[in-house]
Amino acid sequence: MVTGATGFIGSHLARSLADRGDEVHAITRPGSHHSVLGDERVTLHEHDGTTRHLVQIVADVQPGAAFHLASLFLAQHGPDDVEPLVRSNLLFGAQLLEALSSARVLYLVNAGTSWQHSRDGQYAPACLYAATKQAFEQLVDFYVLRDGLRATTLKLFDTYGPRDPRRKLIAALRDAARTGEALALSPGQQLIDLLHVDDVVRGFGMALERTAGLPEPRHERWALRGERHSLREIVAIFSRVIPTPVSFGSRPYRPGEIMVPWEADCDLPGWQPTIDLESGLRRLLAADADGGRT
Ligand SMILES: NC(=O)c1ccc[n+]([C@@H]2O[C@H](COP(=O)([O-])OP(=O)(O)OC[C@H]3O[C@@H](n4cnc5c(N)ncnc54)[C@H](OP(=O)(O)O)[C@@H]3O)[C@@H](O)[C@H]2O)c1
Repeated sequence: MVTGATGFIGSHLARSLADRGDEVHAITRPGSHHSVLGDERVTLHEHDGTTRHLVQIVADVQPGAAFHLASLFLAQHGPDDVEPLVRSNLLFGAQLLEALSSARVLYLVNAGTSWQHSRDGQYAPACLYAATKQAFEQLVDFYVLRDGLRATTLKLFDTYGPRDPRRKLIAALRDAARTGEALALSPGQQLIDLLHVDDVVRGFGMALERTAGLPEPRHERWALRGERHSLREIVAIFSRVIPTPVSFGSRPYRPGEIMVPWEADCDLPGWQPTIDLESGLRRLLAADADGGRT
């Protein structure tokens, strides 16, 4: 069972599970963007928002394991964002944990974020989104202690790859390369870890194997780190693949900009990235040139 399967990473994960022959069930909600997933092999279950309904869905499906990737990401928030953040990142997750517990599903792989941590690994949420991700981990701990759940939280940094519906840096660079219009950027000294989505998906698969092999109830936390560069270096690598006009310093750093991300020393055991940034970007841009704006 996959939550967040209509999002960037979740859709890649759901397709990859279906590719290897797994029966995949996705929890969606009214208004979910099904086009990102676009795979008829994945059975969709539209959740009405209540705990009872999610308990019923999980009881009917009886999944062997769950991947929890549903989340609302906001780098900054205002008063109107508090409820959506808590609803997506805490309430929905709590409902899922309760439903897994009721159906005696023992294995969970959850997506966390590097933004929960300062450079040295302390808990230091960069924003309310990161605080809600931390709070969800605490809920997972409860179900581990009470119900014997085996869980792994994989903490992600920035990611990129095909079929990415998010309007983030790589999408903005692709647009600038295509239109020739200079992309306004900050001064560009901040460090960013970028990981190709195929490496992320492989990490989730390995995390499930590891979780299923845990001899006792436990909640493990690991990082999936990508290739770390300054924004300026990333633009230089991108421009080696396709010349891209940008204007550094045309906009300020974001309030609370993370200049040096978490220096995690807890990569998922046995996992390491296989796609270097330049090759990953070449692959992505070749697909664009091919006509498929993936
Ligand atoms: N991508 C990254 O670089 C990155 C970095 C750090 C951490 N992460 C974590 O990795 C996970 C996946 O990230 P992503 O970038 O793939 O996310 P994304 O593209 O923004 O997709 C978010 C997904 O969550 C679903 N969702 C949100 N609220 C929901 C709710 N209340 N009920 C049901 N579904 C809900 C969305 O469904 P709808 O279609 O209904 O909106 C969508 O499928 C998230 O947990 C995120 O925090 C990602």
